[in-house]
Amino acid sequence: MAHQITTVDVPLRERAYGIEIGSGCLDQVAEYIRRLTKLTHAVVISDSNVSDLYATKVVEQLQAAGARVDLAVVAAGEPSKSIEQAHALWQQMLDFRADRKSVVVPVGGGVIGDLGGFIAATFARGLSMIQIPTTLLAQVDSSVGGKVGVNLPAAKNMVGAFWQPRGVLIDIDVLQSLPEREYRAGLAEVVKYGVILDADFFAFLEANLAGLNGRDGQVLTEVVATCCRLKAIVVANDEREETGLRAVLNYGHTFCHAIESLSGYGEFLHGEAVAIGMLCASRLAAKMGRIDPALTRRQHDLLTALALPVAVPDLNHDELISCMRRDKKVEHGELRFVLPSRLGHVELVGQVDEADVRWALADQA
Ligand SMILES: NC(=O)c1ccc[n+]([C@@H]2O[C@H](COP(=O)([O-])OP(=O)(O)OC[C@H]3O[C@@H](n4cnc5c(N)ncnc54)[C@H](O)[C@@H]3O)[C@@H](O)[C@H]2O)c1
Ligand SMILES: [Zn+2]
Repeated sequence: MAHQITTVDVPLRERAYGIEIGSGCLDQVAEYIRRLTKLTHAVVISDSNVSDLYATKVVEQLQAAGARVDLAVVAAGEPSKSIEQAHALWQQMLDFRADRKSVVVPVGGGVIGDLGGFIAATFARGLSMIQIPTTLLAQVDSSVGGKVGVNLPAAKNMVGAFWQPRGVLIDIDVLQSLPEREYRAGLAEVVKYGVILDADFFAFLEANLAGLNGRDGQVLTEVVATCCRLKAIVVANDEREETGLRAVLNYGHTFCHAIESLSGYGEFLHGEAVAIGMLCASRLAAKMGRIDPALTRRQHDLLTALALPVAVPDLNHDELISCMRRDKKVEHGELRFVLPSRLGHVELVGQVDEADVRWALADQA
């Protein structure tokens, strides 16, 4: 059966690639990979939830297309993004007799994309990779841009590389099996793209609440394609996070990281903390006179309509602020934030007054 496919180009000169987005396109995974690689040997990497749902289907189809295929399955969850897990996978790659002609195919959420991508970047000094992201967060964020890596016990995403895939295949239908909270957490990053880069897209989200809440395939195809297109533009202009442009993607994330690290692992999903963090950043921008408070209200209403949390949890504000002073965007302990100047546009703002940050944390109106 023919599927309607939307293609988004990621223009990175010799590393350029396309993202193909469609409903049911996982059926064509073998043809897709064969177009981009020789497909003699594939190593599919997945997690314990996604393996039975989708990865085994990918394996079967690649085998049916005549490829030698191995499957490596790791435990679902963030703890698998570790150097110990990477080490175990490197060993498995040896057992699989993977070589420079093998293609690595991570099938899963951001954890599998980052971990599998890290294996692709490092084993035998780098193998081809095709990403098959299966969470909304992975489809709109982590599978675009080439950042791969693992966590250290005390520092998330501290060891890794920039390693671009040969291609990304996004089947919108896989989002139907996502747990509700995971789905909604992904929507927070979707809203973020509207605020930072595209006022029309923000309005599209406001106008399509029923489709978003009901996981309508057409709405989701449009959403995922737009987010990939927006992130691709940012990444193409700042592939290795050198010019500062890529920092716009961190809107809401300085507050988010502080909330995540103080509330303890597991309390909030990343996207949930992003929702709260974006509203803090927006209140901060309003307090500094950069935007009208009505823009904060608009984000609040959209996030609430998508059933995302919006209230700052009961955490110590001194501790939140010292956490933010250690954020990676901070230089010499100076508080810096990505703040909106209007809907669809943000700027990195330095020398922010601590009193204003406290105000943004406290004011919940
Ligand atoms: N590389 C980047 O640029 C980048 C950007 C953002 C986030 N990340 C990373 O992404 C990770 C988070 O990704 P995530 O939110 O996708 O988490 P995840 O990979 O842990 O997936 C969330 C949960 O959903 C399950 N799942 C995945 N797809 C499913 C499906 N279709 N149906 C049912 N269940 C499914 C998974 O097994 C897991 O339990 C973090 O480690 C973060 O650091 C990386
Ligand atoms: Zn994020």
